[in-house]
Amino acid sequence: MAEAAVEIEYLRKRYKGGFEALKGVSLTVPKGSVFGLLGPNGAGKSTMVKSLLTIIRPTECRGSLLGKKIGDRKTLGRVGYLPEHAKFPEYLTGRQVVLYSAGLAGVPGKAARERTSQLLDLVGLKAWQDKPVGTYSKGMKQRAGLAQALVNEPEIVFLDEPTDGVDPEGRIEIRKIIERMRAEGRTVFVNSHLLAEVEQVADFVVILVGGKIIRSGSMKELTQAEKTFEIRSLGPIPLDLRESLEKSGIKVAGDQVLVPAANAGDVQPVIDALRTAGVVIREMKEARLSLEELYLSSMDSARGEMNGGAA
Ligand SMILES: Nc1ncnc2c1ncn2[C@@H]1O[C@H](COP(=O)(O)OP(=O)(O)OP(=O)(O)O)[C@@H](O)[C@H]1O
Ligand SMILES: [Mg+2]
Repeated sequence: MAEAAVEIEYLRKRYKGGFEALKGVSLTVPKGSVFGLLGPNGAGKSTMVKSLLTIIRPTECRGSLLGKKIGDRKTLGRVGYLPEHAKFPEYLTGRQVVLYSAGLAGVPGKAARERTSQLLDLVGLKAWQDKPVGTYSKGMKQRAGLAQALVNEPEIVFLDEPTDGVDPEGRIEIRKIIERMRAEGRTVFVNSHLLAEVEQVADFVVILVGGKIIRSGSMKELTQAEKTFEIRSLGPIPLDLRESLEKSGIKVAGDQVLVPAANAGDVQPVIDALRTAGVVIREMKEARLSLEELYLSSMDSARGEMNGGAA
């Protein structure tokens, strides 16, 4: 099995006042992967990240971060962190924010200065690096936050809503940075509400609801639809053919044909029928659920279970 960057055997967090934000969760983040933590507002996502980094004290916690016990101070120098709603002293310049973070992580002066310049350029803040953060827009602050999270060349980086407030181009740049980190063998742990963005980068996802994990696995496994193939034609399917296909349990909508079949071989007779009717096929693929569909169906079944449990 791949080495784990994070191994939570058991994590529980009860805030002062008694609210239990994490009700005993376990998960594994394989080294070198992009890991997406999803869930509605208040699910406990930020609480989980802050507990792992011991920014808040977990109530009960067993597990490891980069091979060391969670809570080991020295390990934090190998970790990067972009907090949710990252705030920096308004009078510091973007450059000073990143240098300050480098200092905290123990990056030597020369390397810190070099990396700071490179990262500020990478996140698109070059022209603004000597201006105070107080004059930055929301998305610019977020970009500065990302640069400071990467300045120690972390083995794992925790990004809590990294694209919050960032414009479309900036989001694409952030996605590329995440992909580059993975290509370098680093691990990226990302909290996000933006399913389409997570879908594009994550290797593994966990859905957290009410402090409990309701779904987890690789993106590939989780989005695998039940034995269905999708055929796309050039233009709509003729009505008479559509009717005969529908009689054999095949769904047709416009230029899309959904064939229940265990393998590609079983789809060939349908293709033959389409071709005979003069239909031009432009695409055939195994159907997959979108992350949005997976998320919504997971939330539905979690609600169903909760209601069932209460009855
Ligand atoms: N300091 C605190 N004291 C008491 N309760 C808290 C504290 N911080 C968070 N909570 C509660 O814990 C729960 C989980 O909060 P958390 O911030 O981890 O959620 P989240 O999944 O990150 O949500 P969001 O998507 O809105 O960022 C929420 O119900 C929140 O109100
Ligand atoms: Mg949060």
